[in-house]
Amino acid sequence: MNKNVRKAVIAGNWKMNKTRPEAKALLEELKPMVADIKNVEVVACVPFTNLETALAVTEGTNIKIGAENCHFEKSGAFTGEISADMLAEMGVEYVVLGHSERRQYFAETDETVNKRTIAALAAGLKPIVCVGELLWERECNITEEVIARQIKLDFFGISADDLKKCIIAYEPVWAIGTGKTATADQAEEVCAFIRATLAKLYSAEVAEAVTIQYGGSMNAANAAELVSKTNVDGGLIGGASLKAADFTTIINAAENG
Ligand code: 13P
Repeated sequence: MNKNVRKAVIAGNWKMNKTRPEAKALLEELKPMVADIKNVEVVACVPFTNLETALAVTEGTNIKIGAENCHFEKSGAFTGEISADMLAEMGVEYVVLGHSERRQYFAETDETVNKRTIAALAAGLKPIVCVGELLWERECNITEEVIARQIKLDFFGISADDLKKCIIAYEPVWAIGTGKTATADQAEEVCAFIRATLAKLYSAEVAEAVTIQYGGSMNAANAAELVSKTNVDGGLIGGASLKAADFTTIINAAENG
């Protein structure tokens, strides 16, 4: 990452894991381990049912709390959904949007990701918007087309000022939960491409200000090399964020890198 212009953000995405007692135990364990971290924003994005517990346990610490999705309407007849305002009112700061698992299993589209991002920003949340290509798309050599399309659609109509409040997570779908990490060079190549795309759509200054994370089998062993790359400003971590020691190693790699 380029520490002169951006602060690294290491965010855990717990996905559908942890009961409330388990969430409390993990965050209690993590708190002292990351208490001295200065140069990295530490975030835990947790299931809706854990938000209140997570906010209470981390109050007054340097761990920020995020949700894993939100709906795009403010309120209404949307059974089972949670609005951005509901999250903001609780004190939640971040929200993961457009994760490939949401796109794959819950039929989310770039259009709904765009609407969710706009709703999250309007509520004062910081969206972590996920983009990434399928293995088949990479093999067909259309990674850049896929990513450019997602960036254009997911951020359509979003102002430069609002874009600067967003984090973009580059998560190649083939690397998620597979143990198959993109090489640091592959991650850098696409993160740099995302920044170049933002520079064209907005300006070089705006593009330089946006935090771009890598996600996909990032772990204690490979994090240092990934975050050493100029355009990789941290990570969105799945499995390894469920273990305090591994998550802390990743945070330290970003802090000291
Ligand atoms: P893993 O780190 O488990 O591969 O998950 C990555 C991810 O999807 C984070 O959002």
